Amino acid sequence: MWFLKASIAIFFVLVMVMTVGCSSEPEPELSYEAHIKPILKKHCYECHLVGGKGYEASGFLMDSYDNFMKGTKFGEVIIPGSAITSTLYLLVAGKTDLSIRMPHGQFPLPERQVEMIKTWIDQGAKNN
Ligand code: HEC
Repeated sequence: MWFLKASIAIFFVLVMVMTVGCSSEPEPELSYEAHIKPILKKHCYECHLVGGKGYEASGFLMDSYDNFMKGTKFGEVIIPGSAITSTLYLLVAGKTDLSIRMPHGQFPLPERQVEMIKTWIDQGAKNN
């Protein structure tokens, strides 16, 4: 009999653990101005403003949201709603060849910042 009680107890503990595990809050909406721009300013502007090496080589200019979304001379590097198909995310997340990972010279970004870029793109890459 004791083992029946014990298994019922274990069952309830498991259910509780699973419920707590699943109820984690969705990430609050991230903002371009408040969260993304400061990362770019600190780690990317050096090369991706007019006169910078990254801009010269790729045409990717980060001086405004609109230019940021325009991407390189070959096209967009951000697909709103889909970080995993966005070149920019793949580069900063280290999912590409070592030689082209971003930011050049200071790869990788802190993990939390890579996560923020991913979340912001997945949330629609809004100008918010
Ligand atoms: C030290 C200079 C430097 C820094 C800092 C830098 N970049 Fe770059 N970036 C480059 C260069 C140079 C290129 C041209 C392509 C290459 O050499 O990989 C480039 C190209 C790119 C491209 C286009 C790649 C492609 O395949 O079309 C993206 C996207 C990019 N950078 C994002 C970033 C982001 C985001 C940051 C900041 C987290 C950043 N870069 C920081 C130099 C830099």
